[in-house]
Amino acid sequence: MSQATTKPHDLAGPTGDPLQLIDVDHVRFYVGNAKQAAYFYAHTFGFNISQVADLTTGQREEADYLLTQGNIRLLLTTPLTKDHPAAEEIKRYGDGVKDIALTVFDAEKAFEQALVNGAEAASEPRTLSDKHGSVTVASIKTYGRVVHTFVSREGRYALPNVKNGAEFMPVFRPIESPVNEYNKQHPCGLKYVDHCVGNVEEGKMNEWVEWYENVLGFSMFKHFDDKDISTEYSALMSKVMASGNHLIKMPINEPAKGKKKSQIQEFLEWHDMTPGVQHLALRTDDELASVAELRRRGVDFLKLPDTYYELVWDRVNDMLTRHGHEPVREDHERIKELGILVDADDEGYLLQLFTKPLQDRPTLFFEIICRRGSQSFGKGNFKALFEALELEQARRGNL
Ligand code: FE2
Repeated sequence: MSQATTKPHDLAGPTGDPLQLIDVDHVRFYVGNAKQAAYFYAHTFGFNISQVADLTTGQREEADYLLTQGNIRLLLTTPLTKDHPAAEEIKRYGDGVKDIALTVFDAEKAFEQALVNGAEAASEPRTLSDKHGSVTVASIKTYGRVVHTFVSREGRYALPNVKNGAEFMPVFRPIESPVNEYNKQHPCGLKYVDHCVGNVEEGKMNEWVEWYENVLGFSMFKHFDDKDISTEYSALMSKVMASGNHLIKMPINEPAKGKKKSQIQEFLEWHDMTPGVQHLALRTDDELASVAELRRRGVDFLKLPDTYYELVWDRVNDMLTRHGHEPVREDHERIKELGILVDADDEGYLLQLFTKPLQDRPTLFFEIICRRGSQSFGKGNFKALFEALELEQARRGNL
């Protein structure tokens, strides 16, 4: 196994900016039962159950399962004591995303710079180390219950080594599971986190847009959606923030007034009126193969009205030819069979599909997305999508 080492002069990053982001280190979920949740994400979405830190590795306050697929690392955390902060959060919010952790060159310097830029600390820097290397973590609060942890890694725990199977941090041990072998034979093809969407309260979107600009040096992505997105009944406003290197895009939604309840408002009401992560979009290079495999495994996707496919090809292929692009190359009939959504802009097209909520509360869900030139978020699908979402909300008695 190759071992990358971080040279001291690299600590501030090649640009000298302590907030230069290297990667999405991991996404941490707080869940009621990580051992069981690990099997759900492994069997339905094709994540490998790679490592664990729990009582058997000397960790007595919480159990953590590291799930991996492509360059996606999900960390499922369950509190082992009633006094663990996750216990209270699970009571209030159910299962969901707690932390979008970002790999940086020096977590302590990144944390200090973020505080200077106006961030509130969530947890002070601490370093876990052993003879193989070290991992330093420090966290800041963002919207609602969510934090960003800065992570810097040295020695054996450097990210390139972790991607090759090295331990995630001291106290983790690898797991052998038959499901990992099954996933190798039947890949779902998910590669990395394309974007991560937050829901905040009505009137708060612009505050959080400014927070990402001021604290993390993000900027408004050129394809933001700055006008009302609405159906007859429900509406939202959304702006997309992107890191300097476009490593991660973080759209921020707020509810807007409609005749009936916005899907954002529904999220907030089932999330103790607290902002949080609404969805993670996971990128694939082959939408049809990924969705076919995920459907075969039982993933519950949002169902679009049949009328969607009567209108979509003219809309999308007109846009593509107008801007000198080839029409959608994937089999149109197969796209309809799999219930995949298509949208286009001046740069190309994208294929996307949304799951239903991943837990009993109508809160977090996943999006499976494939980009063919388009860098936007499927604005052309919003109306069709909202109508489908409203149908689901009505079924839950939440409209
Ligand atoms: Fe999305």
